[in-house]
Amino acid sequence: MALSPSSPSVMVLLYFVLSWTFLLGGNGNGVAVAGASRSTALRFAAEFDSVSSRRVLLNNGLALTPPMGWNSWNHFQCNLNENLIKETADAMVSSGLAALGYEYINLDDCWAELDRDSKGNLVAKASTFPSGIKALADYVHRKGLKLGIYSDAGIQTCSKKMPGSLGNEEQDAKTFASWGIDYLKYDNCENTGTSPKERYPKMTKALQQSGRPILFSLCEWGQEDPATWAVNVGNSWRTTSDIQDNWISMTTIADQNDKWASYAKPGGWNDPDMLEVGNGGMTTAEYRSHFSIWALAKAPLLIGCDIRSMDNITMKLLSNKEVIAVNQDKLGVQGKKVYKYGDLEVWAGPLSGKRVAVVLWNRGLWRANITASWSDIGLCSSTTVTARDLWQHSSQVVQHHLTAQVDSHDCKMFVLTPH
Ligand code: GAL
Repeated sequence: MALSPSSPSVMVLLYFVLSWTFLLGGNGNGVAVAGASRSTALRFAAEFDSVSSRRVLLNNGLALTPPMGWNSWNHFQCNLNENLIKETADAMVSSGLAALGYEYINLDDCWAELDRDSKGNLVAKASTFPSGIKALADYVHRKGLKLGIYSDAGIQTCSKKMPGSLGNEEQDAKTFASWGIDYLKYDNCENTGTSPKERYPKMTKALQQSGRPILFSLCEWGQEDPATWAVNVGNSWRTTSDIQDNWISMTTIADQNDKWASYAKPGGWNDPDMLEVGNGGMTTAEYRSHFSIWALAKAPLLIGCDIRSMDNITMKLLSNKEVIAVNQDKLGVQGKKVYKYGDLEVWAGPLSGKRVAVVLWNRGLWRANITASWSDIGLCSSTTVTARDLWQHSSQVVQHHLTAQVDSHDCKMFVLTPH
């Protein structure tokens, strides 16, 4: 149901329809969505208000908040080289993004030669990484940043331009550690048909024995529901196939990832794939929605555009400190879709200090008012809050519910602090 009018009467009507839909058991157009009935919503803030009890067993001490950084794939695919990586590290620092928490500079596919050396070691591609990966890691480390690399739990990577690590896990993990690698993205191509549940833990073990803490990012595209088993295996796990730089792909992926919300914890995160913000395929409103929902869902915030030449709008989106703070909140609970009325959605999740993050997301074609009722977002109905608008950078005091007018494909994001 697309609501263009912003008149108070329509707003009031919408509010009552939403409320009564719940009281009557929610069989109208407005629905409380999976795992988010009124009573569970009320419980979730209290339930999750303890960080220590929610640590994962992998226990490599990494990714206690979602990883932040940059990855080469979304913008450059196989066109990467050492100068691009160095310039990206330079831009990360000079733009101010590094100071906001973006720390990983991650090479994706195509950084290595197709053949290993005579001792079976992976070798950096001579034409594009002539100085080698160790020198690159040293450069990135000198900037105060970390270097990530990419391999595959199969015989070759997805580009088929370099080997995978299947059967060579220990040797490759040692190579990565000796180069000073801080992060491994581990893909799923050419995998001989064995279950990822067998292939990925081999690399977990190899990394743990490599002598260096290396964040382990599983990329098996959500094929075998990694949220249900990867918490002991890696620090993040892709829940979907690849994101494309368009609205349909981004929204579809957001929904697919949402299904696994309850499995995310400090040390182990659902990964709905890297950011497309700044790559040109979506409007500013759509990119604002993309970034806000990824932040709320505690997704890794891995920038996927060319940060050497990003425009001011892209920088403004990626550098919103208040939105980043929601993503990096120490409570580490993934926010989720708690209410849906046609194309109008409320996403929410608890934050530390009894605060609540809320995104009012208009996925429809017309401007509309969207209301979050306290009962849907885990607050008692009498609670008075200060609602901080994270994109407008303004605050208001409200009670019972929060209503805002939201443009088509745009969102408003708030942090509510109870008085
Ligand atoms: C895909 C992966 C992408 C990218 C690509 C490289 O399998 O999902 O994120 O890494 O391979 O070939």
